[in-house]
Amino acid sequence: MISLVDPGDVFYFLLCSFGVFFTIKQAFVQIRRRKIRKRLGLFKAKSLPLLDPFFGTDLSVTIFNQIRRSELLEGLDKRFLRFGNTHSFQLGLTSIVATCDPDNIKTITMNAIDFPVGDVRRKGLSILHGQGIFAVEGSDWHRSRSALRPSFTKGKHDDVAVLETHFQDMLNQIALSNYSVDMQDVYHRFTMNTATQYFFGTSPRESGQGRQIERLLESIDYVNQTVYLALVFGSHSPISLWRWWQTKKKMRVIHAFVDQHVKRVLSPDFKSYEVNNRRYIFLDELSKSESGKDPIFLRDQVLTSMLGGKDTTASLLTHVTFELARNPIIWAKLRVEIGKLDLELVDMKTIRNLKYVRFCLLEALRLYTVVPINMRSASADTMLPVGGGVDGNNPIQIPKNTILWLGMFSMHRRKDIWGDDADQFNPDRWENLDPGPAFVPFGSGPRTCLGQQFAFNEASFALTRLVQTFHELEPLSDAPWKEKVAITLGSGNGCKIRLHRYTSSEFEQ
Ligand code: HEM
Repeated sequence: MISLVDPGDVFYFLLCSFGVFFTIKQAFVQIRRRKIRKRLGLFKAKSLPLLDPFFGTDLSVTIFNQIRRSELLEGLDKRFLRFGNTHSFQLGLTSIVATCDPDNIKTITMNAIDFPVGDVRRKGLSILHGQGIFAVEGSDWHRSRSALRPSFTKGKHDDVAVLETHFQDMLNQIALSNYSVDMQDVYHRFTMNTATQYFFGTSPRESGQGRQIERLLESIDYVNQTVYLALVFGSHSPISLWRWWQTKKKMRVIHAFVDQHVKRVLSPDFKSYEVNNRRYIFLDELSKSESGKDPIFLRDQVLTSMLGGKDTTASLLTHVTFELARNPIIWAKLRVEIGKLDLELVDMKTIRNLKYVRFCLLEALRLYTVVPINMRSASADTMLPVGGGVDGNNPIQIPKNTILWLGMFSMHRRKDIWGDDADQFNPDRWENLDPGPAFVPFGSGPRTCLGQQFAFNEASFALTRLVQTFHELEPLSDAPWKEKVAITLGSGNGCKIRLHRYTSSEFEQ
């Protein structure tokens, strides 16, 4: 039989009908949004002047190059300065609003209904975190948060004896390098050791897994980069798909490491840390939770929490050390504060009360924001309090599905908030400072960091012991600081220093 209808014509007819339908629908949506703006006195967010305003091709290329040159944050900073603290742009099919306004960031993070983490972040993070707490929302997030929360309460992670063991390993590593090292590498090993000890109950040192840990660290680094690209360009962008096969291989290494520990707690003859009279173990405790017999739940949650704790604290320690090596006066002030301590009696309560140690850590968190950009998405048409109008002080409309980039790194360096010395490392500024919502290194709202105290304990301990052990940190390079962004902020030029150790008689003087 002869067909009277050409399939090609049918295809074009359907395509055109869809195009017409989509255009009319969009027109109605725009009319409705304009009416809402008028009624509520809202403005549109200021958009970046792009050569290609429809798909932002020019900006995509710029951002790609900035990532290659490790200048993403610098580029973002410059756009905030030039085009306003809140502005919008198109990246492929995605509409983005970037903001470094404290009021906007607070509104977004406080309201998880209008501003959930969204598809882009969920899909991006799930590459590494599976269904771990960072990558889920709604009831899955509630389930994760309530299973994890008990493990982060006070007293569970302030065992100085454990920290001291790993600090001694760190000193050995420094000594093996003849006291000239890149402290960024040293801190990554230190936090890996403390994290595996706390989360799995054994550290690479005890289990002789040194080589396995090297592969693990390298795999985590690789997958972190994939996640980062997926967050910026989408998980199905060519740039993300290009890395798909390698990422899969690296994930097998990461899962194999976690699964050996998960198997232990799921085995029929498992005896928890309490029965064995051992120190607190996160995974053992998690296995007693409601979903604690589900191997994938255990794997994802423990992996997420370990990753959340490892790179973040290493970043904080790297940056505080980077600055202290370049600021001998601040180092001397720390020596005065810590010199008063009795070497034998360093307990966590005493360490937590060291005011200047705290100021140094806060200042490092401000200047080198560990999670430099956070992300949310608008679940419905909604609004933000500032960013509109000529002076940028009026509320703006946020259309449904807009991706929000929260520029915490830029907010923490704004001169109009922090003063003309915002680019300087100045711990003394914290003496009488209450920055309110302009300082949120641990996030805010319902998803605020669970490991804040954990991080402070570990970083304060390491810094205190560093000051007790070395009288001088000498920079080995005068290269300026350069960003290395994955999900957490690293130092592109590392933190290469020579450490000068006290002899015991020097310390007593
Ligand atoms: C300097 C250290 C740290 C910084 C700056 C930091 C920062 C953050 C930030 C900004 C968030 C919020 C993410 C969001 O709003 O979506 C977060 C969440 C979280 N952090 Fe941290 N973190 C640090 C250390 C740690 C440590 C040591 C752990 C665990 C041992 C940890 C575990 C978590 C967890 C589980 C969440 C997820 C909370 C949720 O989604 O409900 N963090 N962290």
